[in-house]
Amino acid sequence: MIVLRTRIHNMFWTIGGFILALVCLGVNGSQSLRDVQWLPCQFVDEKVQINEEGHTETKYIHRESVLRFGKDGDSALHPAITFLVTGSKVDMRRYLEGSEDTLQCEIRRYSTGGIVMRWPVAGAQEYDVWFTCTLRHTQGLFVITSFLRYTPAAPAQGQVDFLQWMSVSDRDLLTTTAAMVVLTRTPSVEVGFLKEPELHCQFAVDHKLPNATVEWRLQRHGERTKLFSYSSRTGKSEGKGVTVKTIAGGNASFKLEPTRKHSEGTYVCSVMVPPLYGSHDIPLSLSEQPRVSLNVGSTLSMVIGQDQKLICEAESYYPLDVDIEWYREPHGGSPTPLFLKNVLYSSHRIHQDGTYSLSAFFYLQPGLEDSGYKYTCRVSHKSLLTPVRKSFYLVATEPDSTMWYIAVFGFIIAMLVILCYMLPQVLAGRRSKKMF
Ligand SMILES: *[C@@H]1O[C@H](CO)[C@@H](O)[C@H](O)[C@H]1NC(C)=O
Repeated sequence: MIVLRTRIHNMFWTIGGFILALVCLGVNGSQSLRDVQWLPCQFVDEKVQINEEGHTETKYIHRESVLRFGKDGDSALHPAITFLVTGSKVDMRRYLEGSEDTLQCEIRRYSTGGIVMRWPVAGAQEYDVWFTCTLRHTQGLFVITSFLRYTPAAPAQGQVDFLQWMSVSDRDLLTTTAAMVVLTRTPSVEVGFLKEPELHCQFAVDHKLPNATVEWRLQRHGERTKLFSYSSRTGKSEGKGVTVKTIAGGNASFKLEPTRKHSEGTYVCSVMVPPLYGSHDIPLSLSEQPRVSLNVGSTLSMVIGQDQKLICEAESYYPLDVDIEWYREPHGGSPTPLFLKNVLYSSHRIHQDGTYSLSAFFYLQPGLEDSGYKYTCRVSHKSLLTPVRKSFYLVATEPDSTMWYIAVFGFIIAMLVILCYMLPQVLAGRRSKKMF
């Protein structure tokens, strides 16, 4: 009895602890990223040199760093380089989703490309140094790029740029503010034909009425087309796809026309607020799953000696190519592919909408030993996680089997009739014999 009570007691605490842990994890899980205090981050430092031939050579050096969210005066998180991001109107954490282990953080140096100008906020200097911080969701939910402004204690000698970066030591603390953020929640898009996907692009700047230019370009086969542009300075826009009214709120999402083959390519959203240029490349690819069908039902009855054309058709898929295989398996056995020489393929048919169709067929002339086999057509395509399978069972019968059955049945019935008539007579005969 005591043992039992102890057990129940223990169980109570175990379950209680478990629930408590769940509650804590739940609270943490739902809020952790939006007010996360720090994130491990890789600082991709670079060394640019001019080699003997006069070309610039960039060497990338991966260094450990920490992105710390806090306020001016917060301490460094040794032993790494600390990028302290102090409060501004722009908070990259606001856009985060998921958990910390699905997040990749990378900090790079940012060159303003020779433009020397003061960022129009209080405290900014002409000699400010810029870094970008990119937060990437590992499963492709978003990519967020933030521009971090750092004011060195004193102006450097000469211009600080990619040929002469400000040096950062291993235990340095750099107090920065986020000046601009550009993000997309559609880092890559896969979509069917005649769809109207929206390519997400959003930005925020730390001061009111920034001098911003928003642009969308399409890059395809080395060709560039401007799809849309808007400048807040002139208030003029060109092209379509973005609602101009929403840009002021930081929404620069682009709505595509119904997708066709030539919609494929890389869409580039860019936001320029001099001297900053933020952009995201959004590759868009078209994809349609094949519809797979056989020209027979799930059971095929055939008479030995007959032949039948069996067609497996994969219709309306995109892009090329598709894999169609025929194989067969006995009941309870393992599948074996049909000989390639027996299977023939049609050529790819192209439809008006740009999708393709292909069929694979063979002629079946079964023997009695083929009866009970399962024949399967398997179609694999880029758009399918697992191949599509369609099967039928073969029932093969002897050519004159009906006649044979009729004969056997007839014989049995005749025998029965004979027996029924003859038996009483035979028995009667015996009886009469006995009487003598
Ligand atoms: C952005 O604006 C488009 C219209 O251009 C709208 O469809 C979309 O919902 C907006 N997105 C956000 C995140 O507000």
